[in-house]
Amino acid sequence: MKISFSKEKLPKSGSIALLVNGNGTLGKFAAQADKKTDGAVRRAIKSTNFTDAGASILEVPGCKGFRDGLVFLVGLGDSKKLDPLSLEKIGGSLIGKTEKGGLAQLCVVMDEAESFTGGVGEAAAHIAFGAQLRAYHFRKYKTAAGKNYRKKTNNKNIDLPKAPAQLTFYLGSEEKVKVARRLWRPLQHLGESVDMVRDLVNEPANVLFPKAFAQIARKELTSLGVKVEILGESRMQALGMNALLQVGRGSDQESQLVVMQWNGLPKSKKQKPVAIIGKGVCFDSGGISLKPPPNMGDMKADMAGAACVVGLMRHLASRKAPVNVVGVIGLVENMVSGEAQRPGDIVTSMSGQTIEVLNTDAEGRLVLSDAIYYARERFTPDTIIDLATLTGAILVCLGRDRAGLFSNDDVLAKALYRAGENEGELLWRLPMGECYDKMMDSPVADMKNIGGGRYAGSTTAAQFLGRFVGDTSWAHIDIAGTAMDSPITSTNVSWASGFGVRLLNRYLVDRFEK
Ligand code: BES
Ligand code: MN
Ligand code: ZN
Repeated sequence: MKISFSKEKLPKSGSIALLVNGNGTLGKFAAQADKKTDGAVRRAIKSTNFTDAGASILEVPGCKGFRDGLVFLVGLGDSKKLDPLSLEKIGGSLIGKTEKGGLAQLCVVMDEAESFTGGVGEAAAHIAFGAQLRAYHFRKYKTAAGKNYRKKTNNKNIDLPKAPAQLTFYLGSEEKVKVARRLWRPLQHLGESVDMVRDLVNEPANVLFPKAFAQIARKELTSLGVKVEILGESRMQALGMNALLQVGRGSDQESQLVVMQWNGLPKSKKQKPVAIIGKGVCFDSGGISLKPPPNMGDMKADMAGAACVVGLMRHLASRKAPVNVVGVIGLVENMVSGEAQRPGDIVTSMSGQTIEVLNTDAEGRLVLSDAIYYARERFTPDTIIDLATLTGAILVCLGRDRAGLFSNDDVLAKALYRAGENEGELLWRLPMGECYDKMMDSPVADMKNIGGGRYAGSTTAAQFLGRFVGDTSWAHIDIAGTAMDSPITSTNVSWASGFGVRLLNRYLVDRFEK
């Protein structure tokens, strides 16, 4: 879907979308369109009680006047409630409603969004952003051959819908077009970075194994000016990263550590970086503590934290963000073999602390412990934030609407929480504390990798990580519920949501760019 902005007022052909105020009134251009359709627009608003539905989309059937096109009404709902997020939702819903038709051209006539305090230009940029996010589908493995077969068997079920080829916003003046284009550019980059994360998370593990993932990170980021280093198993061995390496032992795929540095501040402005760490378990079978078969295929997405870090680095570099950020991701595959680690094994982590591995399915924390310690040792970061599909327990606790937030720093926790509210990537803070920490003590080693049975599973995982951050200000975000198998929303119909890029970008903007 191509997105553009035009100073024209009303399109002559193609499909159009007209904005309708919460009280049912039409703007100047929409009123002209109503005339062209012999009043079909106003009749539709009246006969369907359209405006009672709040923000919603209606297709007006049988309209004359727009030769080859359809006419859609976009209800803005209560104008006081219009904000960037609600406008994005409107843009997404519009694509949802129109994409079944595979339209060549859809024009959104913007004259009613005056009621948005930011003005028409800004409103258009946010509607466009929502539209772009919604238009994403993971199409890579839908082939022409499969489509032919479905045609022959008259199976219409599985074809993915197609967004309009061209989406144009009609703004009525050059000045408004300028505003829209200026605000759209960074949002477009952001949307592309979110889509990149979705692509990575949707990709199966036979294609996206640790080395392949590391190469993609290098290829995508180096050209943007991010410094990318890839450490293989021998380098990690030399560094003593045994906790991470032992997770990958059962796999034929070599484990990788990818270090990405974006230094957006001039050298003169010395500033300690923020370190963002991602869990990159390209497939999590559970290891010898094997997972049960149902939904095991979902564990191709156990690298969503790492994908988010790569997506964030891409976005920061694309928009040349004035921040110093280092991303570290640990890429491994947790498999079963004669070389796989066993329950009961004791491993010495890079930090020197020993870990009794009582459950090989609690592998994410092992990977993260070395990645976090490595980042801390090498970069002495000002802040550490890790993202991980770490526990099934976070789904029990928070479901799919909010990711779990754990932190040793109230200021950081509040800032992340607020960023999430503003971007629609919601968090909820959960407790940490001494009694939970004690649950991780082991009689034979410094700690064990599981807590007390089924109790407080997400918190005990966070306590484990907390033993590797030292005094650094730190937050852990458990995205097991929000990154994959996502519910359909107005701005996402993909199995992988791409959660986290918007959240962290906003956190960095709020903290360093205001
Ligand atoms: N990758 C899983 C967590 C997960 C579960 C992510 C469901 C997404 C959806 C993680 O490695 C894991 O297996 N955690 C165990 C920990 C337990 C053994 C202490 C879990 O949650 O059961
Ligand atoms: Mn696991
Ligand atoms: Zn896992």
